[in-house]
Amino acid sequence: MVKQRFSTVFLRLKWISADLLASVCHMKRAVCPGSFDPLTFGHLDIIERASAQFDEVVIAVLVNRTKSSMFTVQERMEMIAKTTAHLPNIRIDSWSGLLVEYCKSKDIQSIVKGLRAVTDFDYELQMAQVNLQASGVETMFMATAPAHSFLSSSLVKELAHYGGDVSSMVPKTVNEALKARVAESGN
Ligand code: PNS
Repeated sequence: MVKQRFSTVFLRLKWISADLLASVCHMKRAVCPGSFDPLTFGHLDIIERASAQFDEVVIAVLVNRTKSSMFTVQERMEMIAKTTAHLPNIRIDSWSGLLVEYCKSKDIQSIVKGLRAVTDFDYELQMAQVNLQASGVETMFMATAPAHSFLSSSLVKELAHYGGDVSSMVPKTVNEALKARVAESGN
């Protein structure tokens, strides 16, 4: 906790780069990677719980080549920044390559992922094993809180597209951005 407070002060004052500080202090750093298109309360729950377990958590907005996106990477990062402003040890970044390359370049030792149900497990296990073999970076799975186990960005986008109320599924900033994007697209 002392290490976390100390590093937060240094980072806020911009006296030292986050990467240098992390290696000097031997900080335990994790990355929460995802498309976050957009961030849901399910993501937020995992981020908050990860932030309590590590000295620093980087939320990395990555490209998932199997999905088309509604928001730009910049827009997603801004929504995440507004929603996680209450957490002192969070950084937000983006990356367009392999996740393990990102971890290596930033000296991050752990990947944190939420598991909603067994349907997530096959794919997530495969990715975790490939990432471990490729780089030695560990993946930690967190059980999604039962209240969020049905929640996904895709479902939220689908509901919002048809005018459904998603206010219980996403933070206020995200809800507003969704409404604006749906209105812009005009369908
Ligand atoms: O929120 P998502 O879409 O489920 O997140 C998936 C994501 C972006 C974390 C995953 O697709 C990813 O790690 N992409 C970066 C490229 C990569 O490293 N692929 C893994 C190869 S095993």
